[in-house]
Parts: sequence; structure tokens; C-alpha cells
Amino acid sequence: MSEDPPVTGRVSNCDRGRVGEMFGRIAPTYDLLNHILSLGRDLAWRRRVAGLLGTCERARVADLATGTGDLLIALLRRHPELTGAVGLDFSEPMLAVSRNKLRRAGFADRAELLCADASATSFSDGTFDAVTMGFGIRNTLDVRTTLREIHRILKPGGVALILEFSLPRNRVVRWCHLKYLRHGVPLIGALISGDRQAYRYLNESIEAFHPPGEFCRLMAEAGFAQVSATPLTWGVASIYQGHKPRV
Ligand SMILES: C[S@@+](CC[C@H](N)C(=O)[O-])C[C@H]1O[C@@H](n2cnc3c(N)ncnc32)[C@H](O)[C@@H]1O
Repeated sequence: MSEDPPVTGRVSNCDRGRVGEMFGRIAPTYDLLNHILSLGRDLAWRRRVAGLLGTCERARVADLATGTGDLLIALLRRHPELTGAVGLDFSEPMLAVSRNKLRRAGFADRAELLCADASATSFSDGTFDAVTMGFGIRNTLDVRTTLREIHRILKPGGVALILEFSLPRNRVVRWCHLKYLRHGVPLIGALISGDRQAYRYLNESIEAFHPPGEFCRLMAEAGFAQVSATPLTWGVASIYQGHKPRV
């Protein structure tokens, strides 16, 4: 087996900006609202991503924009052989929640948390066998830059698994979903988190995000091969998969 480069990340100087500040504010109620707003589907979606990873024996896995760590925990739970996973996020309050959850789940010694920007990490080229990102790429300043960064830090043959919200293709379902996103989500979000603005941002950013076909094209442009999109729950979320070609 080839020598693995050390896993290093930018630990300080988190440039959080407006989005980072917002996640910092909603960190305490983030999980509860996720589960309520998605009627618990978010947990199943993350389990689905975890199930797409092959065996993780000696694999190096990074979960970017790990937030409160639910995707990271799903990966660790599904793959008991996985050690040395990395969760990265630029919001320290989100990471603090994640740190507690990892400890409570007994996974603290299997994962390292780093405060850093997912679109400009200091990991060496080809560090990871797999990179996951759940509901994070939509929030990054430049999607193309982040995709190129994911591609850069993957080993040749490595896989990117990106979970993100999308809009249903069926016109009736889409109409109902948009009503829910525009009216229900900000209302429920405001009631529970006290931050209506954050949950307005949620629906606006989902509506503004690339549709699945376009996002697959961006992944291909960033260098990924065998790119696919799998719709989840009528297409309200999608899993994007892409492989870094072996050279
Ligand atoms: C919607 S949460 C998703 C959290 C988690 N992955 C999940 O599945 O619930 C988005 C997270 O992305 C983080 N984030 C957004 N842009 C980022 C960036 N450029 N670098 C690192 N983290 C970022 C935010 O701080 C936030 O924790």
C-alpha cells in the first residue's frame, strides 16, 4: 500500500462570514429543526449516503461542512471499521455540538474535528479515499471551487458523496413543496430557533441552488467521472456521486 500523507487541516482563522455566523446562531436547535422540518427523513438520507461507501478498512474519509456531525456519525455507525475520519466545518458552535454528540455516541476516538473552510483546506492532494458533504455545498461561496477542492483532496479512485436539497420534478409535488419551503419552513424555523432569517435563507438557497442535471455537469467539469444523481423522497433531496479517475 502507498504511504498516506498526514491529515492536516487549517485549524484556526476560521473565516466564517455571514453564513458561518448564521449557523453559529442556530447551532443549538439545528438538529431538532432538521428532524421536524424533514419529518425525520434527514436521518434516513444520511444513512443512505453512509450505505454507499464501500468497506472502510484503512480508508480515510472526510466529512466536509460536518456541522453537528450527523452524517459523520452515520458513517461511523455504519462502518465500525472506519477510524481516523475527519469532520470539518467553519462554525465552531456547530463543531461544539458535534464534539458532544461524538463523545456521547462513544465515537470521539474515531474522528477528528477541524475548524476550516471546506473550499480551501490545507489537506495535501490525494489525502482521502472518500469525501462526503451533507447540505453543505449549497452554502459555500463558490460551488465550483469547493468541487475542485473535493476533487483535489481525493485519492485517484476515491469517491465524493454529496447530499443536498433539490426541488421535485413532478409539478404538483414541486408546487406543494415550494409552498412548504416558502411559508412553513420560515414559520416553524422562527418558532423553534427564534431566527426567521436563517430559515428564510434555507428556502431561498434551496430555490437558488443548481438543479440536479446542472450540478452533475459541474461535478464533471471539476474532473469527476461516473457522476450520478439519486433523488430522495420525491426529489426534495439528492445524493450526488462522482469518482476521481485513476490516472
Ligand atoms: C446545513 S449545515 C449541514 C450540516 C451537516 N453536514 C448535516 O448533514 O446536517 C451546513 C454546514 O456547512 C457549514 N459550512 C458552510 N460553508 C462552509 C465552508 N465554506 N466551509 C466549512 N463549513 C461550511 C456551516 O457552518 C454548517 O455547519
